[in-house]
Amino acid sequence: MSNPVTAAVETADGGSVERRIVELLGEMTLAEKIGQMTQLDAAEEPGARLRDGVRAGDVGAVLNEVDVQVVNELQRVAVQESRLGIPLLVGRDVLHGFRTVLPIPLGQAATWNPDLVRRGARMAALEAASAGVNWTFAPMIDISRDPRWGRIAESFGEDVHLTSVLGVAMIEGFQGKQQGRVALEADQGPWDDLAHAGSIAACAKHFAGYGACESGRDYATTNIPENELRNVYLPPFRAAIDAGVASVMASFSELDGVPASGNRFLMTGILRDEWRFDGFVVSDWGSVAQLVVHGFAADEKEAACEAVAAGVNMEMASTTYARHLAELVEEGRIDLQLLDRMVAGILRTKLRLGLFVDPYTAPSSFPRVANRDNLETARQAALQSIVLLENRNRVLPLDPSALRSVAVIGPMADAPYEQLGTWIFDGDPQLSQTPVRAMREFLGEDVDVKYVAAMETSRSCSRGFFAEAIRAARESDAVIAFLGEESILSGEAHCRADIGLPGNQAELVRTLRETGKPLIAVILAGRPLTLKNIVDEVDAILYAWHPGTMGGPAIVDVLFGVESPSGKLPVTFPSVVGQIPIHYARKNTGKPPGDGTFVHIDDIAANIRQSSLGMSSSHLDAGYKPLYPFGYGLSYTRFAYSGIVLSKTRLKSHESLTVQADVTNEGDLEAEEVVQLYVRDLVGNVTRPVRELKGFTRLRLKPGESRVVSFVLAPKDLAFHGRNMQLMTEPGDFHVWIGGSSEAQLRAEFTIDRYEER
Ligand code: NOJ
Repeated sequence: MSNPVTAAVETADGGSVERRIVELLGEMTLAEKIGQMTQLDAAEEPGARLRDGVRAGDVGAVLNEVDVQVVNELQRVAVQESRLGIPLLVGRDVLHGFRTVLPIPLGQAATWNPDLVRRGARMAALEAASAGVNWTFAPMIDISRDPRWGRIAESFGEDVHLTSVLGVAMIEGFQGKQQGRVALEADQGPWDDLAHAGSIAACAKHFAGYGACESGRDYATTNIPENELRNVYLPPFRAAIDAGVASVMASFSELDGVPASGNRFLMTGILRDEWRFDGFVVSDWGSVAQLVVHGFAADEKEAACEAVAAGVNMEMASTTYARHLAELVEEGRIDLQLLDRMVAGILRTKLRLGLFVDPYTAPSSFPRVANRDNLETARQAALQSIVLLENRNRVLPLDPSALRSVAVIGPMADAPYEQLGTWIFDGDPQLSQTPVRAMREFLGEDVDVKYVAAMETSRSCSRGFFAEAIRAARESDAVIAFLGEESILSGEAHCRADIGLPGNQAELVRTLRETGKPLIAVILAGRPLTLKNIVDEVDAILYAWHPGTMGGPAIVDVLFGVESPSGKLPVTFPSVVGQIPIHYARKNTGKPPGDGTFVHIDDIAANIRQSSLGMSSSHLDAGYKPLYPFGYGLSYTRFAYSGIVLSKTRLKSHESLTVQADVTNEGDLEAEEVVQLYVRDLVGNVTRPVRELKGFTRLRLKPGESRVVSFVLAPKDLAFHGRNMQLMTEPGDFHVWIGGSSEAQLRAEFTIDRYEER
């Protein structure tokens, strides 16, 4: 185990770290330097060959080895048998939990709860560290505005601010900063906690713009103008760097014709020159070799040359560095000083992690994986992630004492693996508490739970089991249909062009509707689905994402009113696929859509002329509004917003502003609400979005309770990259709203005075 105190001595003083790096670089051969820049897949390398490579100093990092004994043996070989004794980085995709699985990151984003995200990451770090992992490839902080893209599941959704805040929270959880305090020594800076035994290095990915892939097709081309790149896609990464993230992963995608793994503008210009990042960049899996496939490099030697010149320190999985870098250095095409800088970033992280002090893992000194606390964290995360989309006639919550039997129908009701979602290499489906199981436990003997899967998978097209489902529905007091997508339908390379409920699910819903019983849909999915065809067929919809190990009990708590639902959408739900990309922070355009201007295709008279139509930025058949907006989510109670007050209505560009409003629980249940603050900058030297989220907080209010919520807007919160790409806070008029979604109505106005007026 790392001894925290000694580790802190090594890492707390930046000077000693830098001295050690210089010493090491002075002792290393060219081959050993290149070895540090190489990461191999332990799952594919035969054990003996991998050990030989480590012994020879040809390997600086491995991934996908989670047998702690094997990891310890690899570390022993690295430390005791390699010439310089440099320990290994051991990487793993720990995206949303390790053995205990939390909701997918998109679900965690629906909690709007950074403390919970931080706690979840801490739990995952401890579980992963107990297996010898010291580096995770998370958080994924790609702004994701296209639900066809399967990787939206791994993201925090569409918004810049929400993604930035939750990305930082996750990094703090992994790297060891808890509740705003450094875990180890409060005053020694963020790196001390990375050396703590239970901390693992985080990796902000995928740098940059990966989520903007054409038509939501994974790995496809992205074209993002620099202004949008700086205002939308880069800020979460900037926040991650400022929070001390140890590493960054280059995206598979290209940006403006230059693949990320060969993109000097991104990897050096922005990351190092502008943001002063001193950790390291790892390529994505084989993405250096893929520079050839992109048609960006003629062969793998050129690919290696481009990647190092761009600033990619470490190559994951492919071996172009190992095979070609020495020659490139000898030919003078790669400068030794550049190479040393690349190696230094990697050594710095190893030193900060305390690996030179003690690289070994003693599992017995860690809490047990999947212990009661971890399961409780997973349950809380799942609970707070559930979004109530519809609740007609207040059919929910169900009153257990009024039920004699309930029909539980659908392919996602008892699917231990499917409820875990994508990227769960180490998740254990046997730990999964499914909705059926949790419901039986909760309702006990008194209520008969009639379960019929009705479909073999979420994609089945047969109606073979429908009759059984209808019979169960008819014999029950209420019907709960567990619908959605299996985990394989989202995640990397799992994109869909049609994002409706797969297979025969919509038909199953229509069939169940005909029984006339109260019908509640609970949807488990890795992305927003288009639900228009079932919305009017059901009485209520709960959106539970892929909720992880404890999904069942969390869903049951919400269904039966143990807790009121409090999740809010971290991403806009389109009505139809043709609206994509659709997101709330759109621009106004010169012909904005708005009530009164929209003409539906069915209402166009036969002989109408073109000029008589609404002439606004809208779709004739779908309008411009989504099915559900960003930030939306119902509750079992009602929250009212009133009394918005600003600390001033005119301010100077360097001053902060306080915005307050009263939030009242007008219902008769205690519940939580996510209060959101949005801003519009009315005029900019580049056009500004019609609304931008700038603050949020979660509150718990008793029936009748009222609370004043206060947000401080600092000048940097109102800043944006203007026409010349500089970050600026521009004078002018602003609107500000506080409310429960991106359609909040309670508004105030303020002005930032011109400079000369100060
Ligand atoms: C490819 C994925 O794009 C990336 O997110 C992941 O971390 C690596 N593979 C390693 O598994």
